[in-house]
Amino acid sequence: MIQRIVYFPSLRKLLLRAGSNSASSKIGTNNCFASQPSPLRSHSSDDEYADVDWDSLGFGLMTTDYMYITKCCEGQNFGQGQLSRYGNIELSPSAGVLNYGQGLFEGTKAYRKENGGLLLFRPEENAIRMKIGAERMCMASPSIDNFVDALKQTVLANKRWVPPPGKGSLYLRPLLLGTGPVLGLAPAPQYTFLIFASPVRNYFKEGSAPLNLYVEENFDRASSRGTGNVKTISNYAPVLMAQIQAKKRGFSDVLYLDSATKKNLEEVSSCNIFIAKGKCISTPATNGTILSGITRKSVIEIARDHGYQVEERVVNVDELIEADEVFCTGTAVGVAPVGSITYQDKRMEYITGSGTICQELNNTISGIQTGTIEDKKGWIVEVD
Ligand SMILES: Cc1ncc(COP(=O)(O)O)c(C=O)c1O
Repeated sequence: MIQRIVYFPSLRKLLLRAGSNSASSKIGTNNCFASQPSPLRSHSSDDEYADVDWDSLGFGLMTTDYMYITKCCEGQNFGQGQLSRYGNIELSPSAGVLNYGQGLFEGTKAYRKENGGLLLFRPEENAIRMKIGAERMCMASPSIDNFVDALKQTVLANKRWVPPPGKGSLYLRPLLLGTGPVLGLAPAPQYTFLIFASPVRNYFKEGSAPLNLYVEENFDRASSRGTGNVKTISNYAPVLMAQIQAKKRGFSDVLYLDSATKKNLEEVSSCNIFIAKGKCISTPATNGTILSGITRKSVIEIARDHGYQVEERVVNVDELIEADEVFCTGTAVGVAPVGSITYQDKRMEYITGSGTICQELNNTISGIQTGTIEDKKGWIVEVD
């Protein structure tokens, strides 16, 4: 593969900044943690693109050059962190996250424009969601500005891993972990905020083909007054069994009902759900048991702009019978069409393909995200 050698002044500036900050940040003055990854002093890969077969990208982990990391003690604020080579982190066996699941994650993407510019989509929404989640999980959290700045640094440092326009995006995974040691059940005395990245394309093996969902009745994803609305790591391992079983039966994923009545739609394992009938689009209201998706919120706004009536309300599972269209929304999945839903051994089928509401909304949101449609809403943050 022939690679063009280019020089990124902004990346060099940023790496220098990361190195020099480490001396004056809270990291240097707190002694509640044992070790830090060494700050970066130089960077050798100035190729425009990493040597990746961009046409065969899926949603598997492909590690990139750098990650961002910062730590803080309970009761203190996160300072400016630093970029370090992507690699393992050291954890105490008694870390809060390992023993009691005190951890949160986020997911957002960076896109490359035709002119080479790099874009983030509503990153402050991820920062706000992490902050709210951290309060619920009794954790320290980075400020909105720190969070967004850390995302930008991570994108710039891994610029050559951002796929070419139309070939995918750089998925960014911010983590907030209780890394301080605990024995009795209590908040960890130290927290780590880390961001790593991986180039990705389609989340589902179906690619952009319609999904086939299975309505799960034996397992619940969340309970009322629990943490269903929080992106805590502890919500995700419990859905694996239902997901594996559904996939073995040929389904793409699982659609959950509310645990109290088993009558109302909640969400899919890692995305929100919408149903459409005529010009009316409905989605389960965020009442504490489902994740308040950033894609969901954006799609609702776009759909209203496009003249649809959008209702956030209780959506009864029986409404699946009458729906024209069903689609899922999420950072990883985009706006994904659902071709069928199986509920109590009845399979319901939906309209998919050209001319659908799903496609219209997907075209608009992905156009804004990738810079091919003008962003009139202030959703896009330019990285450099
Ligand atoms: C359970 C769950 N619901 C919904 C979503 C969609 O949220 P967003 O649109 O912010 O990616 C996600 C993905 O993060 C998720 O994990």
